[in-house]
Amino acid sequence: MKRTEIKVALQSEDFAQEMNVKGWVRTKRSSKNVAFIALNDGSTIHNLQLVVDLDQIPEEALSLMHTGAAISAIGLLVPSAGSGQRVELSVRSIELLGEANPDEYPLQPKKHSLEFLREKAHLRFRTNTFGAVSRIRHAMIFAIHKFFNDRGFYNVHAPIITASDAEGAGEMFQVTTLKLDQIPLNEEMEIDYKQDFFGKHTNLTVSGQLEAELAALALSKVYTFGPTFRAENSNTSRHLAEFWMIEPEVAFYDIHDDMDLAEDMLKYLIRYALDHCADDLAFLSKRLEEEEKNKKAEEKSMELISKLNFVLEHPFERITYTSAIEILKNSNHNKKGKFAYPIEDWGADLQSEHERYLVEKHFKKPVILTDYPKKIKAFYMKQNEDGMTVRAMDVLFPGIGEIIGGSQREEVYDKLLQRMHEMNIPVESMWWYLETRKFGSVPHAGFGLGFERLMLFVTGMGNIRDVIPFPRTPLNCEF
Ligand code: 4AD
Ligand code: MG
Repeated sequence: MKRTEIKVALQSEDFAQEMNVKGWVRTKRSSKNVAFIALNDGSTIHNLQLVVDLDQIPEEALSLMHTGAAISAIGLLVPSAGSGQRVELSVRSIELLGEANPDEYPLQPKKHSLEFLREKAHLRFRTNTFGAVSRIRHAMIFAIHKFFNDRGFYNVHAPIITASDAEGAGEMFQVTTLKLDQIPLNEEMEIDYKQDFFGKHTNLTVSGQLEAELAALALSKVYTFGPTFRAENSNTSRHLAEFWMIEPEVAFYDIHDDMDLAEDMLKYLIRYALDHCADDLAFLSKRLEEEEKNKKAEEKSMELISKLNFVLEHPFERITYTSAIEILKNSNHNKKGKFAYPIEDWGADLQSEHERYLVEKHFKKPVILTDYPKKIKAFYMKQNEDGMTVRAMDVLFPGIGEIIGGSQREEVYDKLLQRMHEMNIPVESMWWYLETRKFGSVPHAGFGLGFERLMLFVTGMGNIRDVIPFPRTPLNCEF
């Protein structure tokens, strides 16, 4: 008999046909002549209740069906007598597929802490929370491709191994096949990368942007969606060493078009989650409320679904970095010394506490900051006439801070070259990037959305380690 997914069974009206369900036991309880098994197969957050008549099936047949065991059951779907579910399965036959010894299986039918579950990342998919996060993650991946496809963008695979540093920040993981205990040296007594696999120094990419720019200057509208790697030693709830980034790049776009695209995309994705992930969001909303039960009212975050709707209903505030610095400098928060990094002068890089102040306390909605000082931004950004700022745009979100970083790009060859020299970007090895500014160069713009930052926002989860299946952070690469 073909397996029926639990999601389908729970919606079925077919009370005449027998069906076969398979999954993992969440709980089992028995009384004198009946046993109830809550079964989950990951197709939905909801369990199917299996009802076993112990006069028909001896209790010993169920004896190994503990929490975590895999089972298969055949029976008739019937309207449920109990509360809490519309239908249940009246079991005719039941089979153990894989046991889970209760003395060893680490997941109990109770709430575990997220920290504990991180150490059990191989099993945490089986919890309600990670099931919900995993399904939403999939829905968001799908919606991103749909958003771009519907708008005529082409997906481009940027390379993962590269010889360039797209952000010029030097936070890269090196890729090499050289033996670390026998490193070859050249005549200058420097490491001889000519003997390395690619004949040069190579890294894991920090961004697919440079390659996306090459493609955009022919295909007009492109996007990448791939893994990116940063060897920054930041152990925060918002940083991963390996994360996924979505990077659209569009020819003939200026910074305003770029901001419009970013706002449209974020709103589209949030709406998609509300429309397609209602059950999982409802569960996560309850979970969050539970978690914040003991917080003071003013420290509680907005209810998850209201928060998502709130973002949809308001245009994002768009202001320049210079105005933001004025707001921050003059804020009571700053004057009372409540920022860990007090704002004194124009030119300071904004910390996440400043970004969140602007979003959560001052404007109370998402903010797009533009026209940052050139010295705190990457070499490729379009330089403004003032000689001080560049056409950067960062989208800041409540609870997160920066969710998107982007800009209009410098398309003028001489200006780009000069900036690369000023910032010590190796010009020779990036000849291919510079050539696009020689041959048919046009204004263009793009941005990068950190996929896990989006996931943090949409799921309401507090730690980025809990929205990616296998997080990579400093000193953590177990699974
Ligand atoms: O601001 P970033 O560094 O921008 C770029 O990489 C550009 N090349 C993007 C572009 O214009 N095409 O990174 C973009 C986004 C950030 O806004 C943040 O959401 C996310 O990537 N991000 C991280 N997410 C998780 N862990 C990290 N360590 C991250 N670093 C950046
Ligand atoms: Mg950034």
